[in-house]
Amino acid sequence: MTMINAAALVAAFGVASATALAIEPREPTVADCPGYVLKTYSQTENAFYADLKLAGTPCNIYGQDLQDLQLVVEYQTVDRLHVLIKDVANNVYQVPDEVFPRPDGAAGCLPSESNLVFSVVTEPFSFAVARKDSGETLFNTSGSDLVFESQYLRLRTQLPDQPHLYGLDMTGEHTDPFMLNTSDYTRTFWNRDAYGTPAGSNLYGHHDIYFDHRGDKGTHGVFLLNSNGADIKINDTAGQYLEYNTLGGVFDFYFLNGPEPRDVSRQYAEIAKLPALQPYWGLGYHNCRYGYQDAYAVAEVIANYSKAGIPLETMWTDIVRKDYMELRRTFSLDPERFPIERVREIVDYLHDHQQHYIVMVDPAMYAGPATGPSGGAYSRGVEQNVFLKEDNGSVYHGVVWPGVTAFPDWFNPDTQDFWNSEFQMFFDADSGVDIDALWIDMNEPSNFCTYPCSDPAAFAISSGNPPAPPEVRPESVRPISGFPGDFQPPGLQRRAVQDGAMMGLPDRELLDPPYHINNAAGIISNLTSNTNLVHSNGLVMYDTHDMYGSMMSSASRIAMEARRPTKRPLIITRSTFAGAGKDVGHWLGDNLSTWFHYRISIAQMIAFSSMFQIPMVGADICGFGGNTTDSLCARWALLGAFYPFMRNHNGFDSIAQEFYQKPLWTEAAKYAIDYRYRLLDYLYTAMWQQNQTGDPSISALYFTYPQDTNTFNISEQFFFGDSILVSPVVEENATSVDIYLPNDIFYDFFTYEPVQGQGAMLHLDNVSYTEIPVHIKGGSILPLRTNSANTTTELRKENFTIVVAPGTDGAAKGQLYVDDGESLVQNATSLITFDYSDKKFDMAGTFDYDVGVSVDAVIFLGQAQAPAVMGYGFDYNATSQALRVNIGQPLNGPLSFSL
Ligand code: NOJ
Repeated sequence: MTMINAAALVAAFGVASATALAIEPREPTVADCPGYVLKTYSQTENAFYADLKLAGTPCNIYGQDLQDLQLVVEYQTVDRLHVLIKDVANNVYQVPDEVFPRPDGAAGCLPSESNLVFSVVTEPFSFAVARKDSGETLFNTSGSDLVFESQYLRLRTQLPDQPHLYGLDMTGEHTDPFMLNTSDYTRTFWNRDAYGTPAGSNLYGHHDIYFDHRGDKGTHGVFLLNSNGADIKINDTAGQYLEYNTLGGVFDFYFLNGPEPRDVSRQYAEIAKLPALQPYWGLGYHNCRYGYQDAYAVAEVIANYSKAGIPLETMWTDIVRKDYMELRRTFSLDPERFPIERVREIVDYLHDHQQHYIVMVDPAMYAGPATGPSGGAYSRGVEQNVFLKEDNGSVYHGVVWPGVTAFPDWFNPDTQDFWNSEFQMFFDADSGVDIDALWIDMNEPSNFCTYPCSDPAAFAISSGNPPAPPEVRPESVRPISGFPGDFQPPGLQRRAVQDGAMMGLPDRELLDPPYHINNAAGIISNLTSNTNLVHSNGLVMYDTHDMYGSMMSSASRIAMEARRPTKRPLIITRSTFAGAGKDVGHWLGDNLSTWFHYRISIAQMIAFSSMFQIPMVGADICGFGGNTTDSLCARWALLGAFYPFMRNHNGFDSIAQEFYQKPLWTEAAKYAIDYRYRLLDYLYTAMWQQNQTGDPSISALYFTYPQDTNTFNISEQFFFGDSILVSPVVEENATSVDIYLPNDIFYDFFTYEPVQGQGAMLHLDNVSYTEIPVHIKGGSILPLRTNSANTTTELRKENFTIVVAPGTDGAAKGQLYVDDGESLVQNATSLITFDYSDKKFDMAGTFDYDVGVSVDAVIFLGQAQAPAVMGYGFDYNATSQALRVNIGQPLNGPLSFSL
């Protein structure tokens, strides 16, 4: 395409001077960019390499067009194709392997073995990916030229009309509809502190993977490994398309064949890595709040949960305002409100009662001295040279909760030692805060100081960070009922860019690049660290920004493992990048106490578990910002019991919402935690399965019924594990709900009664505020604990009841994984399989881990009648059609019997 400008018109029309033109000259647009032409290529057994040359006059719209690109196509596995378009010189920034280790594709596969076919058009250059068996085109960039500039990349793929797209494929993290809009829609990637998680805006995470579900034509995934800010546009104005617009990096695509949705999840896990297995106790119920005034308030909450009879597994303490830190300074304790002796007493109390303790750690360190057991983290960080720096070598400062702060540079090789040693000191088991797990926040990284933040100190004062701490409570108002008696009131420019080192091109506008992505915070440097900061290794924040939270996650995991080397660390982070699940779980950030946030949490949870491979996920139950209501909080307790990560968390200026605060919430929470705990081994097994294979532990209905078009846009029901369909009430003041049941056999989880799904909506009435509709999918066998317990430690001493829910073919399957629940390396594990077919029940597998409990009973659902004789005692309920066979044998070996 020729660029049309005044000079060209002069030549074309032979007009003597530009002033004589009737047409006003105009600025070139992206449409004027010349695209590329494929010049030469070579091939190996499983790879294809080609040189691409800019096909005309550079348009230089948002930077300089690169003249020479290289295309690398690798058939990595039968179901994965890698397509990389990068600069020939390897100077353009690429996501470093240390942050996102590339999958091992070296062995590769032959194109003839692959389920995918790559094809290329030489001029203008475009490429396509299709399924080999059906010829279905999955991705096709023809019709729109590739743009590859120093600060802007564009690539567009055609799509079928009205596609069913999911994920944050393009999604970063978002609260937009579950199935993505297909016209005039933009998803932006730029991690930010997003209070209220507004719809239509970029939030805390960057996960550039989408699932494209085409019903009986299969599902495939497209992952773009690129950490730069980006807008993904989906529109139907020039045919249906999806268009990547990024601020830099390279096009590093992975095409995942599927063809089932679950296959795509597994194939993505091969790239992003399998998610970490969480400790069993981490699946217990957590309580948190921003604003517990002092240690006594924390103790009081623990005591009140116990008084109310609501199982509390873990108590959390937030950092700021009135919480544990001194003036909100990371690695400090408020000596008056949270003296170390009191904090240690709380932790000891929790540990003595088989409960756990978690505190928050923010990356931004108060730029001054701090007190407490390990005061002085900032000075040590300065000494060890681990903070991000300005070009003149001075430490870069922003403003976060404690006021003026400095940010660790996770690329600096010394930062890990610094982080490890701060953790060792502050969280010392013998003298410090002996936490069991970790909460990391504000790691987008958040900075309250608006760009250009020329005077952080003045900004800190004017914005009231930190605020004055609350009054120290006089002794007379400190007593805590129910707490144990012994707890009585009390540099230089460092950017040496080497050629070919993928460090990022020089001379870019790093603070406010010419292409403006749709960042809700405005320019990319606003309300975060400056994007022109240079890491110790020479990379710039412009390129690495969206990985900051994930890098903090990895560093924190290493630090947690260093202090408790044999234990699995539970870490919950706010900001994530692709692949974060191998280290951490995620809570969905600052939602509000609204029905919108209650509902949308389901779609978000599905995305994180089944598409991003971060299965330890949940929203702040009852909502973080604003005031919750009686019915919302009760319903949320019930729904939250089906989040893998179940935590009630609340803002400091909202009404108190610990579940014991209202009888309705207490009732709902007890009920919710009761069924959650009885299902906890089923959940743990699903999480273990995902840790082994990437099979999602939470999924959308279309994952299980991919041919049923009615399921494609269902975002308010979900599968918890493979077998439990959860269908919460989603409207305020409603006691009824319309749920979709696919054409399959289901069983009510609570009554055991069979319910034949008709592939239609089903109206459920009289769903009280303390109930939630839950169905077992036919074909499943669930290992349930017979009784719940007050803590997960006690729960592990409860016997099992196995529930067999036959499918339409009369058969069912299930499994149970058991280990010690917390060690990184297991001495022994048990993987027990359950099978029911032709009226015969079999329990087999490995029994190496001594579960130490028995099988009380096996309950067979959907039994039209009781058996005449059996080797075991049994009870038959004709109304529910459930047959309970009493076993009473240790769960330590195979078991078989027939009905
Ligand atoms: C922001 C977090 O999202 C929120 O959960 C926390 O309570 C506040 N920071 C205070 O630390």
